[in-house]
Amino acid sequence: MVEVLVTGGAGFIGSNFVRHALRRHTDWRVTTLDKLTYAGRRENLHDVIDDPRHTFVHGDILDAAVSGPLVARAEIVVHFAAETHVDRSILAAGEFIRTDVEGTFVLLEAARRAPRLRRFVQISTDEVYGSVATGASRETDELKPRNPYAASKAGADRLAYSYWATYGVPVVITRASNNYGPYQFPEKVIPLFVTNAIDNRPVPLYGDGGNVRDWLHVNDHCLALDLLIASGVNGEVYNIGGGNEVTNVDLTHRILAHAGRTAALITPVPDRPGHDRRYCLDTARLRALGWTPQVPFDEGLRDTVEWYRKNEWWWRPIKEQDPAFRSYYQAQYGRTT
Ligand code: NAD
Ligand code: TYD
Repeated sequence: MVEVLVTGGAGFIGSNFVRHALRRHTDWRVTTLDKLTYAGRRENLHDVIDDPRHTFVHGDILDAAVSGPLVARAEIVVHFAAETHVDRSILAAGEFIRTDVEGTFVLLEAARRAPRLRRFVQISTDEVYGSVATGASRETDELKPRNPYAASKAGADRLAYSYWATYGVPVVITRASNNYGPYQFPEKVIPLFVTNAIDNRPVPLYGDGGNVRDWLHVNDHCLALDLLIASGVNGEVYNIGGGNEVTNVDLTHRILAHAGRTAALITPVPDRPGHDRRYCLDTARLRALGWTPQVPFDEGLRDTVEWYRKNEWWWRPIKEQDPAFRSYYQAQYGRTT
């Protein structure tokens, strides 16, 4: 059996990856290491938590006594664990530096000594390139992160690279665009707007709504990770972009249409400070390995709206009862949901 460690496996992308990995790789034994922050939830793994090939460890990547032995016995590490929400990083950046930078350092130190390790996937982000007015970011482009989240991810990204260059840790770095799909915490724009729309509540659109994101279905992200675990070149960076460039205002109209609501719910709110105008990825390097996204955006978005509609058990307690969500929402939007 192949020993696989997934950090942050109780979060949005991590839980989708754990589910995908157990289904697709019957020779993998998966250990999830997750601190269960506000964004990490056992419910995200409800259907796989008791799988005999899955072990859940509640712990902090920063705690070397916990994370070290797990890295030591792994053949593959997929490192998702991070603080991930830009708006929270603007309100308070400390935890981003600790988890995203120092946490990655703790894992890489263990990886240096891991005898069987053959792949360490550093999950980075397209946000490390900063805002790109025209064209598409290539893996060789300069990194110009513009908010504390993006800067902490850029630090981790280059730290991982340095452990390949210096110590030969078999690192592959991925920079994915904005993901969407089931189990995404409802502070991020798609699940926030979908669940507000279901409840016929306003959707808070930042600034002029003209910012552009390139949407990637989480299942297509998982397929790209499979490919890179098998065929990625050590020390290389791979962009993973869905190829679905959409302005926020366009995205909002599409969500409202799928949810059966009108544009009357759109409520302009003050812009995010330092709001990156546009991200766009050149994915030629990954496509050369044989990957193309499978999920057409409108289909993926429709199914995602449907998932939130059918799974109120998952998001309603977060939005209506979780003090961490409610105090954040109050601080961010000046109102309760
Ligand atoms: P998420 O916020 O949903 O999940 C993060 C997970 O990490 C949570 O389960 C949380 O409990 C866990 N975690 C946080 N701090 C930890 C710690 N110190 N020790 C152990 N676990 C800890 O995030 P996500 O959207 O699933 O993102 C996963 C990864 O993908 C992140 O590294 C993020 O930067 C990257 N990424 C995300 C996107 C996106 O659109 N969501 C795009 C590109 C890259
Ligand atoms: P988000 O989901 O936070 O992802 P990121 O900032 O990592 O791209 O936001 C996606 C886009 O949606 C971004 O341009 C900011 C915008 N946005 C809003 O307009 N309103 C909101 O309430 C949120 C959370 C985001």
